[in-house]
Formats: sequence, C-alpha cells, structure tokens
Amino acid sequence: MPEDFEQLWSGLHPVGRSAASGGYFRQPFGTAERECHAWFVEQCALRGLRVEHDGNGNTIGWWEPELDAGLPVVLTGSHLDSVLDGGAYDGPLGLVSALAAIDLMRDRGVSPARALGVAVFAEEEGSRFGLACLGSRLAVGITRPDQAAALRDRDGVALPDAMATAGIEPALGRSTWLDRVGCYLELHVEQGRDLDLRDEPVGLASAIWPHGRYRFDFTGQANHAGTTAMGDRHDPMLTYAMTALAANKQARLAGARATFGRVDVGPNATNAVPSRVTGWLDARCETEEALSSLVAAIETQARERADRDGTLLELTAESVSPAVNFDVALTERLLALGSRPVIPTAAGHDAGVLSAAGIPTAMLFVRNPTGISHCPAESAGMSDCLAGVNALADALTELAR
Ligand code: HGY
Ligand code: MN
Ligand code: MN
Repeated sequence: MPEDFEQLWSGLHPVGRSAASGGYFRQPFGTAERECHAWFVEQCALRGLRVEHDGNGNTIGWWEPELDAGLPVVLTGSHLDSVLDGGAYDGPLGLVSALAAIDLMRDRGVSPARALGVAVFAEEEGSRFGLACLGSRLAVGITRPDQAAALRDRDGVALPDAMATAGIEPALGRSTWLDRVGCYLELHVEQGRDLDLRDEPVGLASAIWPHGRYRFDFTGQANHAGTTAMGDRHDPMLTYAMTALAANKQARLAGARATFGRVDVGPNATNAVPSRVTGWLDARCETEEALSSLVAAIETQARERADRDGTLLELTAESVSPAVNFDVALTERLLALGSRPVIPTAAGHDAGVLSAAGIPTAMLFVRNPTGISHCPAESAGMSDCLAGVNALADALTELAR
C-alpha cells in the first residue's frame, strides 16, 4: 500500500547524506543519486505508474487512465540531484510531494481524464557537468546532443560515459514524450524567505530571474613564493581576488547577485605563486539587459586588473538561463483553487526550461522558514510540506480533468 508523505520522505531522506555535514552529495549518475532513482522507480511500481526512461537520463512515472482519450497530458516533477553538500528539500520535495499527491487524489476517489506524469529531470543543478537543467534542456532540445556529449566532469569523465557507467543507454536528444505534455506544474521548496515574511505556507511563482555561470580562467607565471619579489610577479590569484571583490561591488550597486563559489588553482602549492586560477561566477539579475551589463562590468574590471598584474584572462559563458515569466492563465487557474502569493525567484528550475520551450508552466512554492538553501541547513516544516501536497493534489485534480 503506498505510504503517506512522512513515510515517503523518511525513505528517501538518508540517501546520499553526509554524516559529517548533514548535507547531500547526490551528483548525477553517481551511486547516491542512482539509489534515489531506484527509490523513485520502486515507488512508481507500488502505485502502478508506468515508468519511462528517455535517453537523456530523465525518468517519468505515468498514471494513465483506463481509456486514454489522447488528451494532452499533465506533467509534474522536479529533480533528485543535489548541489555539493546540498539541502534535503531542493528537488526531492517536489517528487515526494507528487507521489503523495497521487496517493491523496486516489484516496479522494479522483480518476484523471488524462494521463498524469511525474518527471525526474537529470542534472538540474549542473553540479557535475556544469550546465544547469541539463536533462530538461536536452529533453526540450535547447541543448544539442553534441554539446551535451562534449561536457566533462571535474575528473574528465564525459557525460555519455557517466550515464553508461550508471547503466543508462545514452540517446541524447529531444524527448518525444514531451510532445504529449499540455502543461507542467513543479512544486519546490522556496529558496528565499518571501512566504515566511508573508506568513504563508504555499505560494505560486511569477517569474525566474535570468542567470548564468561564467568561467574566468586567469593565467599568470608560476614562481617561487619566497624568492620572487612582489613587484616581479604575475600572480593570477591576485587578479582573481580583485575580480571577486569587483563582482561583489558591482552586484551590490546593481541590486543583483554575483557569487564566486568555486575556484580551482594550479598547481595549488603552498610555496609557489600559482600559474593559473579558474573561478566560476554565478550572476543573476532581474532583467537580461541588467545581467549582460553586470557581467560586462565585472569582465572590464577583471581585464583592467589583469593588465596591471601581467596576467591573462579567458572568459567562457558555461550556462545561461533566460528570464522566465510563468504562464499567467495557468497560474490564475490555480489561484482560483485558493488565493496564494505569486512571487518571483532568482533560483533556476526545470520549470523555467519547459516554460521557455513554450509549455504552459507554473510552480508551487512551499515555505522555507529560514530561506536558506543549497546547504545542509535548508529546511521546511512538516505542516507546510503537507499543505504543499494538498495544494498539488488540488491543482493536479483540476488540471487532469
Ligand atoms: O542554481 C539554481 O538556481 C538552482 O537551484 N539550480
Ligand atoms: Mn538548487
Ligand atoms: Mn531545485
């Protein structure tokens, strides 16, 4: 007999969790993430959902009516992969809630007139291969198979090899199952405090800020840390450091977000001036124009500093996500079920990719009492999670009529 939310949650919760930090390491196609996938497939089987795997690493559990009138299907879902040392809710909350919502709909005697799918999108975080929402981008066709096949992880493992090692036959390319989708609704923990400040358990999303990930490769001249006078150095660490400070200042001035959270240094030796430093900038703004201006301003200051340091800079945009405005008619249809705040977010989601691909899309947010996310401290209250399940069950019942 399918379990309720709390039992479902307790079944998934320990998978991939670090005993040291309490954070999650569910990198795509790795052992922990594959265990999460196996859990999802098992839960689908318990509910008689037909499981479909596409060649992009995505998995869908289908609840199909006896008589399929061939109506456009309703899709919900999210992701099971995490950032490094991530939180428990970012992604999994949407999937556990979807399974619990199906249980609730069945308890209520709902039988959908059209198929309802629960999708697990691969590599939403881009934590292994660097491209955010990789599975959904491949599914909708905005990332070409050759682009995806060229992606490497930090150990140089190619995406198709990582998939094959995980037992997935890579067949990268647009997913045909998407042709059936009439609308997509994703439930996600809020990654901010808007709902908490409004004292609301559940909200809807209005928009996603445009955002991107940019790799700054600084090249200098390796040398002895002790015998090289300061004035004789071409130190890429200095250029990087000044760039990080410039990014912080430019973002504050623009009311935007700029983060260097990942740095790679070569040769990373204590007693040597480094030869190279690579820093990844995550930048986010309310508009695409503002995003371009922010990154350009940071790049200008980085190049000016590089000239002074006698270092070189190569800049690569690795992952850029456009502004997303969710479907107004769909959002209003859900608001008619119950009034809720409709709020923007600066966090990216697979829902943003499907929306940008022209699929009518909406998002439900569940309150995060601290707003903290992408770290072990991420949290959501059980009563708010259950309110989310109710809201999702109501919405899916309405959409699957
Ligand atoms: O990075 C993001 O905004 C999302 O959590 N993937
Ligand atoms: Mn995330
Ligand atoms: Mn997420």
